[in-house]
Amino acid sequence: AANSKFISEPKTAAPRLGVDKGPIHMVEAGLIDQITELGWKVKFDGHHQFEDINAENDPPIGILKNPRLVSRVCEAVATSVGDVARAGQLPITLGGDHSLAMGTISGTLSAHPEACVIWVDAHADINTADSTDSGNIHGMPVSFLIGLGTPVAEFSWVKPLLRTDRIVYIGLRDVDAAEKRILRENNIKAFSMHEVDKYGIGKVVELALDHVNPNRDRPIHLSFDVDALDPSVAPSTGTPVRGGLTFREGHYICEAISETGLLAALDLMEVNPSLADEASVLQTVAVGCSLVRSALGQYIFPTMK
Ligand code: ARG
Ligand code: MN
Ligand code: MN
Ligand code: MN
Repeated sequence: AANSKFISEPKTAAPRLGVDKGPIHMVEAGLIDQITELGWKVKFDGHHQFEDINAENDPPIGILKNPRLVSRVCEAVATSVGDVARAGQLPITLGGDHSLAMGTISGTLSAHPEACVIWVDAHADINTADSTDSGNIHGMPVSFLIGLGTPVAEFSWVKPLLRTDRIVYIGLRDVDAAEKRILRENNIKAFSMHEVDKYGIGKVVELALDHVNPNRDRPIHLSFDVDALDPSVAPSTGTPVRGGLTFREGHYICEAISETGLLAALDLMEVNPSLADEASVLQTVAVGCSLVRSALGQYIFPTMK
């Protein structure tokens, strides 16, 4: 196929150790061969290592944990994702901590300023440096991308390029009180599990696209946190929340976005193999690979078009 793509899978500073080992499991499970078979030309960027910053030389800023490591990794990811996107290729980032989306989305927006974001997650990840209770930066990337809250100097490289009407959420069910206020005050559209139950996933994806991409002409950045899926489907993740998307609902989202032909960047985040027994890890890694294949067109059968 004429398509060309690139996979990066950086190591990051998860507050719970092990999330940095997730990406390589998907590669070892054969993901690159699987998407090559779908007709894509794949360039693997390797397992990124950032050994020079560690807990000892990276004390908290305010209550933000591992701020320098997260910032440096995300900045490097922003550069590589931006380069790949500017070359007209599709960057896929396997994570890793969802704080990485600060980098991936910055990269996408540097190449495609008109792009929109579909954020699939149990969580809104929109705490500011002021509102966070946990200090975990994975709960904050969206606020940095929009430019909410008191700026943190360490993250001054993140340009507030994401417009509040260019992001939409699907799958939310564990949103902090402060985050609910932020979503409301900024008029940010979210389809929680309640809406998925009420309207069905087909309608929810259509409404989500209508909101961020009414003319179906904007590049789409899909940021998929595997914890959007129900823990029975994807158990091996850092912050599981029951009542999530079924296997098919998760795949449907990826298929429907693939079908638009507008996918410009993909994140598959928060696969954490250190958190569970071996069967759960294998299950989560397999579902992660499967979601990526769906986003890359696995289920679009030419005979049915
Ligand atoms: N809202 C919580 C926090 O700010 C949980 C965020 C979970 N995010 C994630 N990427 N796992 O800490
Ligand atoms: Mn995380
Ligand atoms: Mn997340
Ligand atoms: Mn999450």
